[in-house]
Amino acid sequence: MTNSHQSTIDGVVADDDSLESYNWTFEKSDTQYLTHGLHNYPARMIPKIPDTLLGHYKQTGVIEEGDLVYDPFSGSGTTAVEGRLHGLNAEGNDINPFAVMLSEAKAIPLERGGLSEARDALVDGLSEDLREVREAYDESGEVEWLEMPDVRDGWFPEPQLHELTALRDRIDSVEDEFGEAYARFFRIVLSHTTRKVSYQRNGEYKRYRLAEEDRADHNPDVEAIFTKKLKQNMEKMRDYSNRVDHDLDTTIHYSDSRTAVEDVGENQADIVITSPPYGDHQTTVAYGQFSQDPALLTGKVTYDEMKDVDKTGLGGRYDVLEPLSELEEYSPTLKATLDTLREKDGRSDDAMDFFRDYYAVMEQVGEITKSGQPVAWVVANRTMSRVNIPTHLITRELCEHLGYEFNVNLPREIPNKTLPWENAPENVEGTKGDLMANENIVILRAP
Ligand SMILES: C[S@@+](CC[C@H](N)C(=O)[O-])C[C@H]1O[C@@H](n2cnc3c(N)ncnc32)[C@H](O)[C@@H]1O
Repeated sequence: MTNSHQSTIDGVVADDDSLESYNWTFEKSDTQYLTHGLHNYPARMIPKIPDTLLGHYKQTGVIEEGDLVYDPFSGSGTTAVEGRLHGLNAEGNDINPFAVMLSEAKAIPLERGGLSEARDALVDGLSEDLREVREAYDESGEVEWLEMPDVRDGWFPEPQLHELTALRDRIDSVEDEFGEAYARFFRIVLSHTTRKVSYQRNGEYKRYRLAEEDRADHNPDVEAIFTKKLKQNMEKMRDYSNRVDHDLDTTIHYSDSRTAVEDVGENQADIVITSPPYGDHQTTVAYGQFSQDPALLTGKVTYDEMKDVDKTGLGGRYDVLEPLSELEEYSPTLKATLDTLREKDGRSDDAMDFFRDYYAVMEQVGEITKSGQPVAWVVANRTMSRVNIPTHLITRELCEHLGYEFNVNLPREIPNKTLPWENAPENVEGTKGDLMANENIVILRAP
């Protein structure tokens, strides 16, 4: 292997090649420790990846405490949480407003005392409140003092939807008294509760409903689900809060990473660790669909904001960038892949849209990151029209065109992401193809 950057710390010479000695699959590793377990999210990055990378680069003197880790696709904030655990400030972007809220809720520590007081204020009198709501609903089919959220009809048992709405209002009152950070923490618990209460089938990454005949049996206890999750999340937050430096900063921008320099600035980041979306919301992961109703119940996100998330994601239909015809000249692997798709009359335009958007982010990240510092892209190799897309090679080649210097590629299997394991590319029931089974961590040094 050539091109390894070498650095010396305490007289020990280390280089990025030693990263290859780890087993990056991290099979059976806990993905729910500390605040990582506050709420699920599709296609979460396994926390061990940023943990191991940050540990390695600290040990080799490439980064140090007080530095900034940046993630252009923050998602649920895995990089930001690990960043703070390693003594780093964190910054990120996401176009899903729920992801922004979740990242901040997980990465920004809350004071133990304040948390207990805010919790007491929230749960004091809760049972009576919910009982009143239930009685009013049972009597007249509505609860006149509640302004109902804009969720889709037919996705919730109605009495429970009213109770969830009453909880939302209680959290708003907590915000007035204790501030946004505490309210945000409770909203994440409410979002979890909302998902459990809805007719959404468990474990589905898209919005599939319980069969009609099963809905009558679905009679969840809102208060019990909420208070159980609240207790669990408080324990996680207390542990996290004890372990981290409260003076560090976490900033997650609710904006498109294709223009992230506007938010973050040039030459700011000391390291980047990110897992980009897969660029195909039809057959893979619909981040917006996943969080739409729970996000609406938080009261902080609007229907208009949520409905566009999947369309504005990389390769989406909105805010389309200028065509970039030379793109395939920058990456021989991209060209070969697009040619194969064209021959098969496959979806070369979709693939092109995705890589054009992805390239825009690589460009921005190159400017945001200090020259020579590591940028790790955790990418899955997916298929489109049954053609394998070697995203790791395309990532490397496009970055090299932008002046990044390639370091190392670390392959791994995906043991436990919430993903469609096997899925027909055409979405035809009964036909199954391997959609994603492994990933690569592509590490380059910023231009
Ligand atoms: C694979 S997920 C990231 C998961 C994250 N690493 C975690 O551990 O939770 C990709 C994220 O990119 C976001 N995204 C898609 N297109 C984006 C864009 N143009 N700008 C910013 N974020 C975007 C999606 O909303 C999604 O949250």
